[in-house]
Amino acid sequence: MPCYLGIDVGTSAVKALLVDEEQRTMADATIPLETSRPQDLWSEQDPETWWAAVQTAVERLCIRAPAAFSGIEGIGLSGQMHGAVLLDERGQPLRPAILWNDGRSFQEAEELRRFHPELSRTMGVIPMPGFTAPKLLWLARHEPETFRAMRMVLSPKDFIRLKLTGVCITEMSDAAGTWWLDEAARDWSDEALAATGLDRLRMPELIEGSAPSGMVRPEIARAWGLRGDVTVSGGAGDAAAGAVGLGAIDDGSAFISLGTSGQLFVTTHRFSPAPETLVHSFCHALPGRWFQMAAMLNGASCLAWAAGLLKSEVPGLLRQTEAAYRGPSPLIFLPYLAGERTPHNNPYARGVFFGLSPETQPVDMIQAVLEGVAFSFADAKACLVQAGTQLSYAGLIGGGSRSAFWAQIFANVLNIPLSRYEGSETGPAFGAARLARLAATGEAPETVCSAPAVIETIEPQPRLVDRYGPRVDAFRRLYRALEPEFRNAPTGW
Ligand code: XUL
Repeated sequence: MPCYLGIDVGTSAVKALLVDEEQRTMADATIPLETSRPQDLWSEQDPETWWAAVQTAVERLCIRAPAAFSGIEGIGLSGQMHGAVLLDERGQPLRPAILWNDGRSFQEAEELRRFHPELSRTMGVIPMPGFTAPKLLWLARHEPETFRAMRMVLSPKDFIRLKLTGVCITEMSDAAGTWWLDEAARDWSDEALAATGLDRLRMPELIEGSAPSGMVRPEIARAWGLRGDVTVSGGAGDAAAGAVGLGAIDDGSAFISLGTSGQLFVTTHRFSPAPETLVHSFCHALPGRWFQMAAMLNGASCLAWAAGLLKSEVPGLLRQTEAAYRGPSPLIFLPYLAGERTPHNNPYARGVFFGLSPETQPVDMIQAVLEGVAFSFADAKACLVQAGTQLSYAGLIGGGSRSAFWAQIFANVLNIPLSRYEGSETGPAFGAARLARLAATGEAPETVCSAPAVIETIEPQPRLVDRYGPRVDAFRRLYRALEPEFRNAPTGW
């Protein structure tokens, strides 16, 4: 039976998924990844570790589901967005990749904004330090030799495509996050490239996510035991791939992704920029579609961090916290461990616990973490409203969606119903497998990209909605009060 392989190059792990023609997951594999933070604000990974993890994941799939594996007809790639993979003339990385949650190019992003104010509308959002373009401006200044030696800049998943097929190609939804793409025209912007000292020669070719980008190289097909004619589709940045996996391809379909980072994502059938709201208006992975997205740098990663500090496992902590839950916590947690993009554009922001007392217990802190992340989504929802998009319902995907308790807190804080789906924590890899199928078969997206089965829809509880409103206000006041302090805080420890 024909099968499709979806590979998601995430930040905390590479996830690979084998999906059959009936859209059943036949096998999956997750290989963890390390991130290095060699200096304050920096966040890097070695691209070769992604490739090694992809190969290990694929070996595991082959062992777990050999029959399905031998039926692979297409491969789809998804990945962390905004990363800069800088290659020399032989296609070798010149330095570690600079990731989406790296804040070093704050100054350069500010300059791009100041000197090229007209570009933000075309690029769908103001320049922010996580994006690729300001990173290249930083590189030109701080590592000029690397900048001069660089022949190609790729997004993380496109480095895996280069390994698989030998071609330098990207697709619209990842290109959208570089701040070099003219989002309405679905083409590189020569003005934006020139603003960072670049031109099209150092950019990959652009295709749609559902289009074929090339074939798996014969030596890889042989080594992996694949047929000789496996197509690799354009694929998508992880946000758009998650949308494809969830069937969020119609105008107005919305979801929350609660992975390492967090997104509030709404598909649109026209390009609707609102750059000053910090909502990202980007190309979707399917032709003729765009999306509006509030992008938060701190999602379920905050819970993993807190569990690590308490030397406890997340499921146990969630159970204890739910058992102790009596309504909104008196504590407030600002979740900005890695700085924040929407709504603050502040790489210097940091995590804060407010209101600790001698009575504070670990479960209180966990509840505050769950609420703090949800409060940051209340900010995201407000930004979308400012950008012209009202939200009355959303799906919930990503690792954090496994917890019905956390989902209930989200529903109460946002005051909208939220649906949890079967298998939704594998979202982007599943979406990538769907894009693989679209490229291999040429089917219409509407026939393949349906919504997965809903496990449950969680309704807001009016009594708690009323009590959470003032807590969101307090959360906002606390950030505003601390904002000047973040910039002055000592760094590097
Ligand atoms: C989206 C974003 C993150 C990364 C990492 O704008 O920065 O979702 O793609 O997952």
